[in-house]
Amino acid sequence: MPVPIIIDCDPGHDDALAIMLAAADPAVDLLAITTVAGNQTLEKTTLNARRVCTVAGITDVPIAAGCARPLLQPLAVAADVHGESGLDGPEFPEPTVGVVPEHAVELLHRIITEHPEPVTLVPTGPLTNIALLLTRYPDCAPRIREIVLMGGSTERGNRTPAAEFNIFTDPEAADIVFRAGVPVTMCGLNVTHQALATPEILARFEALGTELGHICAELLGFFASTYRTLWGMPHPPLHDPVAVARVIDPAIVGCADANVTVELHGTYTRGATVVDLHRYVDRPVNAQVAVTLDADLFWNRVLTAVTVLGERRGRGPVE
Ligand code: RIB
Ligand code: CA
Repeated sequence: MPVPIIIDCDPGHDDALAIMLAAADPAVDLLAITTVAGNQTLEKTTLNARRVCTVAGITDVPIAAGCARPLLQPLAVAADVHGESGLDGPEFPEPTVGVVPEHAVELLHRIITEHPEPVTLVPTGPLTNIALLLTRYPDCAPRIREIVLMGGSTERGNRTPAAEFNIFTDPEAADIVFRAGVPVTMCGLNVTHQALATPEILARFEALGTELGHICAELLGFFASTYRTLWGMPHPPLHDPVAVARVIDPAIVGCADANVTVELHGTYTRGATVVDLHRYVDRPVNAQVAVTLDADLFWNRVLTAVTVLGERRGRGPVE
């Protein structure tokens, strides 16, 4: 039986591929997409979710917009990484997929309480929507199967030396999520940096011969340019689909139990995920933390999803 999931995202190049993987892989049933401010403003991340669903032919999944700013601190977007649009690279047609009028938190609450079985939440952006859901509707926690998030790191950060972008953007929200008592799996940079979109991977997308495969190659090409410029990395890590892959097949992403504590007060470390993999301190295990990735299985699942969606859309023109 496919696992029912909701993606909460801030598209974002890697969020875009996470949406496609979740929409097409038979191991999961994508019930809804909710958007949050992060990589770009809420207006832009929501438009981008609509753009991705339009070009990928994902027309039966409701999209709801959520929070436009973090709980406490001002929003600081990542235009340096994802561009002014938040999805720079390809030219997108005017989206034909719309949004539902419900706020993301209300849609999350309604689906979680109405769905016949517990729902898995897959946040791939800042955790603002999820924290508000758990705070406003604590009764829905038992109906959440688990939260499998992309964020944090067992090592260093990528927005500060200590903090990863999704957690750094809204540390208070992340703290609420890790303390909520809902099963949490954290897919951090230590693992997502093994999901590298090499030129060989981009060639596999182009070789699909579909318009969607070409769009994915263009997205990854832009993402590669900013990672080279900002970090000197030859190939960009495709972070967000790793969280979806963990739900699809736990053999793709290996985890270890640990206490994860979000640093809220450190002058130089605010937003860091302090991951106690070796039980140094007397804090209870509150998460599974991703520590390994089978990159071949991962890319095969992502490419298969884009193949399915692309062929469903028909072999469009590839300029
Ligand atoms: O640090 C990487 C994460 O921040 C990814 O989810 C990326 O999309 C950005 O949101
Ligand atoms: Ca993201």
